Amino acid sequence: MRGGEETRVTSEKAIDAIRPLVEEHFERKDDDFVPGESTIQLSRPTFGPDEVTEAVESLLSTFVTMGEKVDQFEEKWSDYVDTRYSHMVNSGSSANLLALKALQGDVIEPGDEVIVPAVAWSTSLFPIVDIGAAPVLVDIDPETYTIDPEAFENAISDRTEAVVLVHLLGNPCDLDSIVDICDAHDITIVEDCCEAHGARYDGQDVGTFGDVGTYSFFFSHHISTIEGGMVITDDETISERVRMARAHGWIRELDDTEDVTEAHPDIDPRFLFASHGYNLRPTEIQGAFGIHQVDKLDQFVKQRRQNAAEITSRLSEYDDVFRFFEEDERAYCSWFAYPFQVRESAPFSRDDFQRYLEENNIETRPILAGNLARQPILEEIDHRVSGALSGAQQIHDTGLFIGNHHRLDDEMIDYIVSIVEEYVESQT
Ligand SMILES: Cc1ncc(COP(=O)(O)O)c(C=O)c1O
Repeated sequence: MRGGEETRVTSEKAIDAIRPLVEEHFERKDDDFVPGESTIQLSRPTFGPDEVTEAVESLLSTFVTMGEKVDQFEEKWSDYVDTRYSHMVNSGSSANLLALKALQGDVIEPGDEVIVPAVAWSTSLFPIVDIGAAPVLVDIDPETYTIDPEAFENAISDRTEAVVLVHLLGNPCDLDSIVDICDAHDITIVEDCCEAHGARYDGQDVGTFGDVGTYSFFFSHHISTIEGGMVITDDETISERVRMARAHGWIRELDDTEDVTEAHPDIDPRFLFASHGYNLRPTEIQGAFGIHQVDKLDQFVKQRRQNAAEITSRLSEYDDVFRFFEEDERAYCSWFAYPFQVRESAPFSRDDFQRYLEENNIETRPILAGNLARQPILEEIDHRVSGALSGAQQIHDTGLFIGNHHRLDDEMIDYIVSIVEEYVESQT
């Protein structure tokens, strides 16, 4: 099926035939919101006819493994975040693994410590263990949901080589303070931006402050490639290591293969393995989605920001029972979700509030994995906890989030606000 003018023509014919049907399908209005009956979901699909027809084109061409469309998405992503190299992978977790893997040896050696906030995703932490280093859990600031700079500095030991920053819920970390601390202590920065697409700090995209940054394009995120992720860096060596480890560790990804091929004339250069690696490559279907999704990101983020501002302003009179998140003036938060923290002084518990939301068809979930130090897997991992983790525990005990996405409209926001008001009024 590959190649050939005739194949291209029949493919275009098929796409032209299905495009109107695909558009009609996505325009259907069978999910009108009915207050009290419909569910306010944590996320809604971000893709439509553009992504589906682009993906069908890949299928028809039979070029389905990592190729031109992935390249195109990588280029667009580099332009979007303003970085030198973007390498697409099959998930955000894989992106984190490759980011850490690229630092193994040169920067991080077995037994070294890598700092990670105690509220993060499991796979923000696991890759630290995978490369033979020890995670050090530090507290977050419960006002911002991100790593507490003071707790971070206090956690630094003479074995600390790197930090995995997590821009949690799309809120950029206090990068001014963190970057200064890292410069002073010669600490390498990995930025986990898996929840922070489109987020900026002082006008600069998150992911570009450190040595290497990662993104996830899982279905429920700001934009999606179904499953998928990206590693970004300005560093040529990191870029090459990521590419090699993404694809089996073979030399096809090396810029200069001459030395290694000459040294091993008995091995077919196509199957010459010069570094440790995995197979974490994405497919062209995912690349096809990404090409179109990136163009929609700014609008989606704008919508999320408007939603958040609206909900917060309408519920602000309840700041005696909820702790609302306020954006720092240097930050442009991309609002992965809408979080609530129920104050300890409130006359109801987080669990009761959460139950009420769920009973009224508003989906909820904990803030990521809560305090990671409480997760049973940590008992099996050689790690260190620095400080009391009281902020992380506060999030664990009092936090939850509801959906905040591009499809949340005025009617849904009215409904959310009315349910929260109804609950608080019934309790006070
Ligand atoms: C902060 C953070 N890091 C990493 C990941 C992993 O991404 P993925 O689900 O694409 O593997 C997630 C997933 O949501 C996340 O929230």
